[in-house]
Amino acid sequence: MKFDKENYTVEKYTFQHETIEFRAYRNRVYVDKPVSEEFQRMNVFAPEGYFRGESINGYTIDTAPIFMPNQVGGYMPGKLDEPRCTLWKNQEVPNSIFRALQHGYVVAAPAIRGRVQQNETGEYIGKAPACVVDYKAAVRYLRHFAGELPGDVEKIITNGTSAGGALSSLMGATGNHSDYESYLEKIGAADERDNIFAASCYCPIINLEHADMAHEWQFLGVNDYYRMHMQMDEGGRPSFTPEDGMMSEQQIRVSEELAKQFPEYLNSLVLKEKNGNILELDKDGNGSFKEYMKRVVLKSAQKAMDAGIDLSDKKWLEIKDKKAVGMNWYEYVKNITRMKTAPAFDALSMDSPENDLFGSRNVNLRHFTEYSKENSLRTGELAEELVIKMMNPMDYVDDEKAVKAPHWRIRHGECDRDTSLAISAMLALKLENAGLDVDYHSPWNTPHAGDYDLEELFAWIDEICG
Ligand code: DHB
Repeated sequence: MKFDKENYTVEKYTFQHETIEFRAYRNRVYVDKPVSEEFQRMNVFAPEGYFRGESINGYTIDTAPIFMPNQVGGYMPGKLDEPRCTLWKNQEVPNSIFRALQHGYVVAAPAIRGRVQQNETGEYIGKAPACVVDYKAAVRYLRHFAGELPGDVEKIITNGTSAGGALSSLMGATGNHSDYESYLEKIGAADERDNIFAASCYCPIINLEHADMAHEWQFLGVNDYYRMHMQMDEGGRPSFTPEDGMMSEQQIRVSEELAKQFPEYLNSLVLKEKNGNILELDKDGNGSFKEYMKRVVLKSAQKAMDAGIDLSDKKWLEIKDKKAVGMNWYEYVKNITRMKTAPAFDALSMDSPENDLFGSRNVNLRHFTEYSKENSLRTGELAEELVIKMMNPMDYVDDEKAVKAPHWRIRHGECDRDTSLAISAMLALKLENAGLDVDYHSPWNTPHAGDYDLEELFAWIDEICG
């Protein structure tokens, strides 16, 4: 393993009237025995001012936090990234790497293997847990060359959205855990620690083996669905057509069966609110946990109203004297609408991204819940228990062998329909109950998305690094 510190470029990138100057160390393969050289590499950037001895926002070349965003979406391969512009609400805006460099962070942006990759002999090389393993290997690489790279390796903050948010949460929950060791050895990762300082997670698609039941607990009774169907044109460009439908009788029955499973799982976690109250559900899915989830949504609404947004058209929301005082959960869910049919993740026809994620070297698609295996329409296999565990941060929070990130920031939009809001809430509560520092919020009128509040994210990073 090597790091040629003299091999860099000094570059500028301008967005409108803002210019950043940075040093770029590109294309560093972060393992000794890559199975995918294209994706097991990383770009590292640092503000050029640091090499002139300047300080930025109070940081120096030695103390600057290392912001570590991944580009993973849909558990597909995550590409290398760099400072550039991206589209947000049809407007060009600088991406998180541009903003992070401008703010004084060092940025380490790894590419990461994904579920669809195959080698020359047709074997799958990016199935679970490859994506987490690569992220860990990239952290180990940074530690291995800490003396030569700018930034403080004890201040690594991972960041990602959706599947990428899941990876960030796994980085925060599973530091140095032996479960991953043999996988890391196999790809020739550096013999270093991989625990991180903080995890920033936008709408993490996690807890996959319980995500179906959580989803149906939330969306139960909303049987019509609405989604955008993506297809690729001949030039490989995506286009979207709306798809509007009603779940079949069989899917409605599945929804009811899955929803019934959720209370037992939720109760098994014995989650507590800050005041010590235990959060529970009765067999019908009602109880203190549901009331807690309502308060998450009400807080979201309150923050929006405090910012001057008029919510009087939200019929499910009860407003008194400019305060969000109550809500109708079912009407709220109906209002945000259902996107996925039941089961949302472990599809009976095995055609979900997650079935693909849990494939193996030789099998493309597998199940990862008992329920869907039993009801499989394709008599699919079940993934190994350990592999399923290795993709679930919930399973490591109470494990002393996992070095947890002390700081967490979790954001899950109020109208996200890709996974139940309960999924991120359970993670946030579990982390908090374990004594970790958690900043959890559901931003109003925010769909399945990330990086939309970089100023707030960076203020949080500055605070925890301060
Ligand atoms: C992503 C979205 C999903 O709905 C899902 O099931 C998995 C991943 C994503 O955007 O990364």
